[in-house]
Amino acid sequence: MLASASRRLAARAARPGPKKFSSLAALGEEHQQIRDVARAFAEERLYPIAGEVDRLHRYPGEVVSELGEMGMMGMMVEEAHGGGDMDALSYAVALEEVSRGCASTGVIMSVNNSLYCAPVRANGDETQLAEFLAPFAAGEKLGCFGLSEPGNGSDAGAASTTARDDGDAWVLNGTKAWITNAHEADAAVVFATTDKSLKHRGISAFLVDTKAEGFSVGAAEDKLGIRGSSTANLIMEDCRIPKSCLLGERGDGFKIAMRTLDGGRIGIAAQALGIGQAALDVAATYAADRTAFGKPLTNLYAIQLKISEMACKLEAARLLTWRAAARKDAGLSYTKDAAMAKLCASEAATFAAHQAIQVLGGMGYVSDMPAERFYRDARITEIYEGTSEVQHVVIALNVLKAYAGESTALPAAPHKPEHEDVAAAA
Ligand code: CAA
Repeated sequence: MLASASRRLAARAARPGPKKFSSLAALGEEHQQIRDVARAFAEERLYPIAGEVDRLHRYPGEVVSELGEMGMMGMMVEEAHGGGDMDALSYAVALEEVSRGCASTGVIMSVNNSLYCAPVRANGDETQLAEFLAPFAAGEKLGCFGLSEPGNGSDAGAASTTARDDGDAWVLNGTKAWITNAHEADAAVVFATTDKSLKHRGISAFLVDTKAEGFSVGAAEDKLGIRGSSTANLIMEDCRIPKSCLLGERGDGFKIAMRTLDGGRIGIAAQALGIGQAALDVAATYAADRTAFGKPLTNLYAIQLKISEMACKLEAARLLTWRAAARKDAGLSYTKDAAMAKLCASEAATFAAHQAIQVLGGMGYVSDMPAERFYRDARITEIYEGTSEVQHVVIALNVLKAYAGESTALPAAPHKPEHEDVAAAA
């Protein structure tokens, strides 16, 4: 499976390009190869345009198409359905490298892979897979995910968008907010309630062609970072879609959304790692070149401390991210692991970007250097696909669930060593 996908990517690996320090050397050979190909692509095609994409708020359509040709817009989709036929670890490794080159391209890739292709692949019937998956996984079309609304973000179960059964069609009414890829998307997975009295159990998932009657997109949000990706409202006013566009079972929408976000959080963890690693790269490179008090900055303990802290936080978050991906690939539960990975990687990225500016001093605060962009790009990773506060809730509830029912007569002790699961997943 991986071998065939690697062959598709390997054509790019043959290109000459500088190879930097690898902190991913513990990966197996095939995953290393995928990392190398993604890294070479990021260095040659993404890093050179990332500043301009940010400055002009430009959608980088040309490189998104190239990612599609490489099988990276639907990495976890089978080749028969247009995808790259790779596993979640490959996805995490490749997305980190892409985001290290350009965080905007990283989130465009991430949303199409994890938030659009994954739920369609997992819940679509054969007709839906042909129309709503294959061209999207191949990178010919782009997808988005409509869950949040102006009136509810973290409380996803409170969705107020409605879907009315109208004989041969569903009629959708409501607005979805903060939707990445909104302006370029050809289709959206939209969550709407078919029965409000059932609360979250009344929510269903729908496949909505963005050319459908009654569907429109709002103005692009003017954002702090990831400015090459569009973020806007999806507006549905008596939007008619065919009856066949219900995705999965009626009333299963909330669970489809939650499972989708479990996978998506591995993607955002990887995106955050890429941004954080880029910040460490620029800080370390600058500190080695710049002299102060007659010595390179790297000779100063204060700078060494920053480099060490940045590297430790990133490495720890990377291991959590790989572990979440490995558990997904092994068919083990990974809700808690994905939340931990996203929480720690996003915090590591914002920390690294903050410290990189400190190492660069004035040069970190101006747009001549990319450090200020990394700082702006990193910040969103603590917000989208579940805020850090939501990740803490998910982690705490899963940790506490493991203790429920245990005898309180015994001193608190881990009753189920976590490393047993890790060994099984590795
Ligand atoms: N997998 C499968 N099912 C799950 C699940 C999971 N990970 N988590 C919960 N469920 C199920 C529960 O088992 C429960 O099932 P029953 O109805 O059978 O009992 C049901 O879902 C409800 O569970 P909860 O009571 O725990 O749900 P809740 O309402 O308390 O919400 C929450 C929990 C974790 C806060 C959830 O609402 C959440 O994750 N919120 C954040 C949403 C989010 O990430 N939004 C970002 C949108 S995407 C985006 O950022 C835009 C973009 O374009 C990038």
